[in-house]
Amino acid sequence: MLTIAITSGKGGVGKTTFSANLAAALAETGAKTTVFDADLQLANLDITLGVTPEFNLQHVVAEEKTLTEVLVDAPGGFKAITGASAVPSLMRAGPKKLGLFFNQLNELSKQTDFLLFDCAAGLDNRVLSFLKLSDEIILVASPDPTSITDAYATAKTIFRRKPNARVHVVFNMANAHEGHKLFTMFEKIMWSYLKKRVNYLGSVRFDQSAALATRKRELYVVTNRDCKASQDVRALAQQVRQFQENGVQKAS
Ligand SMILES: Nc1ncnc2c1ncn2[C@@H]1O[C@H](COP(=O)(O)OP(=O)(O)OP(=O)(O)O)[C@@H](O)[C@H]1O
Ligand SMILES: [Mg+2]
Repeated sequence: MLTIAITSGKGGVGKTTFSANLAAALAETGAKTTVFDADLQLANLDITLGVTPEFNLQHVVAEEKTLTEVLVDAPGGFKAITGASAVPSLMRAGPKKLGLFFNQLNELSKQTDFLLFDCAAGLDNRVLSFLKLSDEIILVASPDPTSITDAYATAKTIFRRKPNARVHVVFNMANAHEGHKLFTMFEKIMWSYLKKRVNYLGSVRFDQSAALATRKRELYVVTNRDCKASQDVRALAQQVRQFQENGVQKAS
C-alpha cells in the first residue's frame, strides 16, 4: 500500500475535488484506492462524493468501529473513509487520538493499493502527522500568487519536519503552459532557498463542467469523462501509478 498525502498552503485550491477524482482515475486503471478525509476540522469528502455514510471517523475515534468498518463505496469504484464536521472529538484529536487511526492503517493494506489522505489546508500538527506517515506528498496550488507563496511556506515546513520528504507539485486550475512556467519558478525558489528538489506532477485545467459536477456532488472523472479536467487527472493518475511501480521518483 502506498500512502499519499494531498495538501496545500492556501485553502480552496481544489484538494478534495482532486483527491476524489484522482481516486476515480486510479480505480479506472485497476488500482484499489481509498480516500481518507484527513481534514478533521472541516471534513467534507462525503459532500464531494455525494455519499451519506452511517459510520465515519467519529465512530473510530469513539472506538465504536474500526477503520475497515467505516469504509464506504464511492462512485468511481474506490473506497472512502469520511469524517464529520464540527465534531468536538475530531477537532480535538491530538497525536494520541490520531495514533488510533495510524495503528489501524495496516489493516487497510490488504484491500488498498493507494491510500490518499485529503488533508486540511495549512500545516497544523494534525496535518503534519498525516504528512509524516505518507510515502509521497502531493502539494496542490492554484495559479493565484498567494497560493504559490503559501505553497512555498508549506514546502519549507514539510522539509524542516521531514527532510527526506518526496514532494510532488500539482497546479490546479492551470493549463499546461501556465503550470510549467509556474513550476519552473517554484523549483528555482525551492533550490535557491532550501536546496531541495520537488517533482512536477502536472496541472489540471480550469473547467466549468468540473465546477458544475462538484456542485451536483458528482465526480467529473465519472460523469464528465471527456472534459478537460478529467483528461488531465487521468494523465496524472498514470504518473501516480509510476510511484508504485518505480518505488521512488525524481525528487530528493
Ligand atoms: N479544475 C477545476 N476547475 C474548476 N473548478 C474547480 C477545479 N478544481 C476544483 N474546483 C472548484 O474549486 C472549489 C474548491 O474545491 P475543493 O473544495 O476541492 O478545495 P479544497 O482545497 O479541498 O478546499 P479546503 O482547503 O477548504 O479543503 C470547488 O467549488 C471546486 O468545484
Ligand atoms: Mg478540502
